[in-house]
Amino acid sequence: MIKPRIIATGSYVPPKVLTNADLEKMVDTSDEWITSRSGIRERRIVERDVATSDLGTQAALSALEMAGLSAGDLDFIITGTNSPDMFFPCTSCFIQSKIGAKKAAGFDILAGCTSFIHTLSLADKFIREDPQRKVMALGAEIMSKVTDWKDRGTCVLFGDGAGAVLLTGEEGDRGVLSTHLHSDGSLWELLYMPGGGSANPSSHETVDKNMHCIKMAGNQLFKVAVRALAEVSQETLEFNGLKSSDIDYMIPHQANTRIIEAAAKMINFPMEKVYLNIERFGNTSSATIPIALDEMNRSGMLKPGNLILLCSFGTGVTWGGALIRW
Ligand SMILES: CC(C)(COP(=O)(O)OP(=O)(O)OC[C@H]1O[C@@H](n2cnc3c(N)ncnc32)[C@H](O)[C@@H]1OP(=O)(O)O)[C@@H](O)C(=O)NCCC(=O)NCCS
Repeated sequence: MIKPRIIATGSYVPPKVLTNADLEKMVDTSDEWITSRSGIRERRIVERDVATSDLGTQAALSALEMAGLSAGDLDFIITGTNSPDMFFPCTSCFIQSKIGAKKAAGFDILAGCTSFIHTLSLADKFIREDPQRKVMALGAEIMSKVTDWKDRGTCVLFGDGAGAVLLTGEEGDRGVLSTHLHSDGSLWELLYMPGGGSANPSSHETVDKNMHCIKMAGNQLFKVAVRALAEVSQETLEFNGLKSSDIDYMIPHQANTRIIEAAAKMINFPMEKVYLNIERFGNTSSATIPIALDEMNRSGMLKPGNLILLCSFGTGVTWGGALIRW
């Protein structure tokens, strides 16, 4: 049986570190508050002249290097991003051009922080259609450029970064076993960026009203997020006829350690098997899961046959899960 398998991973975070101590000088907050309420100690932030595709390009190149393939081998580049280089063209096309992936088809997914699960789901389907295909699935974000640096309720949470996985079809039982996607658009007001789109096109007024950055009802979103992560994890387990104890690692979207702990508790999943890097990178939106996967892969944590449960939630509200046999 041929399965879409992740044959390589890559990631990139910008070198500049913004610590909680730095944020104490910018807004009325404290390291103690940020760490205890979110689990975040520091995050990476790009310089002004860096675009999302620059981060995606580095992540994609490092995945290609690991695979021993060249950009010309790629059939698809799919980037999950909520902070694209431009409204159009898509960020995947910029990445395609920067890495020279001439025959690839590039397009983006905008489904909040869940977007990487969507890119993985599409990669899975493209490869099931033709197992020879090579698909680069990315999550890439520059959240620092859509952050309101005067809003302490949001500016302490987000960071910049990109992660990539390279998939192709392989004989055997290793690979993507299932993906599960959901959304509830009636909850859109929990997290959104009002300005710049067709509802509120960019104008002096949208700038004056501070409409080009993240608006969030953090407390309400917290509760939705816990339920979404727990439910989609349970759904993914049940679909595959598995129990929590069968899973080697959970890689949840890294938005808040307390959200992850509460969701894990709901499904009786031990925190020792949950991978966390939120302390170092904050919430890099759709990049959190592929960055974590790359860290785990490069550190040698992941062994062939390991069962890895991915789960995420984000603006929309969207949520999704996936199961991988490494
Ligand atoms: C944002 C979040 C960390 C806030 O934590 P919380 O425990 O829910 O805190 P609350 O929003 O209830 O605020 C509690 C108090 O802390 C204050 N506060 C908010 N941000 C603060 C900060 N950075 N520093 C200090 N105090 C802060 C609030 O103003 C509030 O003060 P008040 O009680 O005087 O009104 C949390 O709700 C969260 O993580 N929500 C989900 C967000 C998320 O995941 N977003 C991304 C989705 S992909």
